[in-house]
Amino acid sequence: MATKMNRRTFISGAAGTIIALKPSVVFGTRSNSKIELGLIGCGGRGNWIASLFNDTGKYRFVACADYFEDRAKGTGSKLQIDTRHCYSGLSGYRKLLNKKLDAVVIESPPYFHPEQALAAVVAGKHVFLAKPIAIDVPGCKDIATAGKKATSQNLVFLVDFQTRANEFYREAVRRVHKGDLGRLVMGEAHYPWSGGGRGGPPAGNEERLRNWYYVLEISGDFIVEQSIHALDVATWIVDQDPMRAVGSGGRTLRPQGSIWDHFVVTYWFPDDIVLSFTSIQSIPGVRDEITCRFFGSEGVVNTDYFSGVIIRGRKSYKGGRFEQLYTTGAQANIEAFYKNIIQRQYTNDTVAASVRSNLTAILGREAAYKGGEVTWKRLLRSDARLKLDLKGLKS
Ligand SMILES: NC(=O)c1ccc[n+]([C@@H]2O[C@H](COP(=O)([O-])OP(=O)(O)OC[C@H]3O[C@@H](n4cnc5c(N)ncnc54)[C@H](O)[C@@H]3O)[C@@H](O)[C@H]2O)c1
Repeated sequence: MATKMNRRTFISGAAGTIIALKPSVVFGTRSNSKIELGLIGCGGRGNWIASLFNDTGKYRFVACADYFEDRAKGTGSKLQIDTRHCYSGLSGYRKLLNKKLDAVVIESPPYFHPEQALAAVVAGKHVFLAKPIAIDVPGCKDIATAGKKATSQNLVFLVDFQTRANEFYREAVRRVHKGDLGRLVMGEAHYPWSGGGRGGPPAGNEERLRNWYYVLEISGDFIVEQSIHALDVATWIVDQDPMRAVGSGGRTLRPQGSIWDHFVVTYWFPDDIVLSFTSIQSIPGVRDEITCRFFGSEGVVNTDYFSGVIIRGRKSYKGGRFEQLYTTGAQANIEAFYKNIIQRQYTNDTVAASVRSNLTAILGREAAYKGGEVTWKRLLRSDARLKLDLKGLKS
């Protein structure tokens, strides 16, 4: 063992034992204290969440990548990253992955998530990934593969849904799964939003990367990119794949070529459970909601991202109220990511759950586009990738 000490890193195990790990898996190999991170995607969320990672004192950013050079350099300077490790262009993230670091935080537009997350796992990095995980069925399957691969390679892979990190959501869902609502009958999930703007389709491929939200092939549309928060809670509660969906909606407030501004979808799950889902964006004055409630034979569970969680009925749960889940949920996920790495917890439970809710959002989108019914089985057979025109973009 002693002869290997120079070439391998040893850390203390949970029971005080000394455990040998591959250098790529061990955190903070140089500073011996902090997990070394690479940030992929230096936009709004990337910069915001990087501060949260830094605030913990447990992480250090050593590289960053963005398609746009000025963004990579700007974020790099804020995070005190050596400019030589601020990468740009479409392949910037690959250069970042070649660098010696422990984990990546992926905050790029959704189109790139499957490719970047899978490459990160192949490169031996732990992955912290923004929702949505993907915009199409093959992308979701790629993330499922990446998650399994991560587990088999002793890597952590965490998808950042804030609700899944909240103690009241977790306890309420645990109680529903235990049977406290009795037999589930029907649910509602809603996402009315004042934000979103009324953007049209951006012209030119670089402009499309800047205003990617309005581009179906990059964002996956409103139902996948935004409303997924509500559908993720719904599928978490039901804990089954939907069997089929019938949808409608449209682009009443937006120019031709942009994403849709409203969706109305009915989902059917096994055991005759029905879910009624609606979402609408860019309505002045509307109170933002990410709500999901389910009715069972013995009670009702109410959840709202912006206010709290409660179960009323024969077995009530007073749950709790909160106002800053956007921040506290991300902080809890950042903490869980650290804990999972340190404690070598590689079950990566958020991956399969996120694949299910992402596919559910895609099922609703496809049903709405069709103005009719799409079954889960048919959706899963679809191997069509949404194609993005990358012509003229910097490699
Ligand atoms: N509550 C939440 O969980 C939450 C909130 C906001 C955003 N998000 C997610 O975070 C991700 C980023 O959103 P945002 O609001 O920061 O968008 P943004 O446009 O502000 O930032 C995205 C950044 O990625 C860069 N980029 C584009 N193509 C790239 C590529 N190929 N490689 C690397 N970088 C590339 C862009 O230049 C931009 O700087 C999205 O998936 C979004 O859904 C999640």
